[in-house]
Amino acid sequence: MKLLHLDASSLGQHSVSRALTAAVVAQITRENTNATVTYRDLTAQPLPHWTPVVDAASEAAKLGDAVMEEFLAADVVVIGAPMYNFSVPSQLKAWIDRIMVAGKTFSYSEKGPQGLVTGKKVIVVSSRGGVYSTGPAAAMDFQESYLRTVFGFIGATDVEFIRAEGVNLSAEHKTNAVAAAHVTIGAVASKVA
Ligand SMILES: Cc1cc2nc3c(=O)[nH]c(=O)nc-3n(C[C@H](O)[C@H](O)[C@H](O)COP(=O)(O)O)c2cc1C
Repeated sequence: MKLLHLDASSLGQHSVSRALTAAVVAQITRENTNATVTYRDLTAQPLPHWTPVVDAASEAAKLGDAVMEEFLAADVVVIGAPMYNFSVPSQLKAWIDRIMVAGKTFSYSEKGPQGLVTGKKVIVVSSRGGVYSTGPAAAMDFQESYLRTVFGFIGATDVEFIRAEGVNLSAEHKTNAVAAAHVTIGAVASKVA
């Protein structure tokens, strides 16, 4: 089993999502001793904004190819996705811009777009300061809905969300949200085999 682990939080050791993706990967590797992990820290080593490839031998082109190969090779992709301004951090967006490639992960035909990705499980750790799963802010969630759309578009429809929300409302909210996320991790990670 090949596992790709991505983090995108800028909050370092204070990050909720980094701690939770680490817990997801720890459980999966504990329960699947054949798993090999590729780690990419999208904040420590940010990908540049996408630009057209004019030289296939350029560093930018090679980096894009490496990102795509890591993604295509992975059976399981674990993504730390904080909510930044109702969506995802631009560091994660830069990675998404490298994996949404016509002819590689999706194709167009007269019947419309078709996803080319099969047999991949995506586990997203979603952290956010407020509450969006219910209540009036639900319509402002362009983070989880965006990620579900992105992965669904390329055929990766097996997407699980591990959510820690309301973490900035109070210390108690944060403690409860992280505890709830760990319960979800136990259920989600144990299904990975
Ligand atoms: C630049 C930035 C933008 C943010 N935007 C939002 C937002 O739109 N809605 C929200 O509920 N929380 C927002 N937050 C709070 C984060 O979602 C929250 O702190 C979350 O825990 C971040 O994940 P992390 O702890 O893994 O870094 C923002 C935080 C930062 C740093």
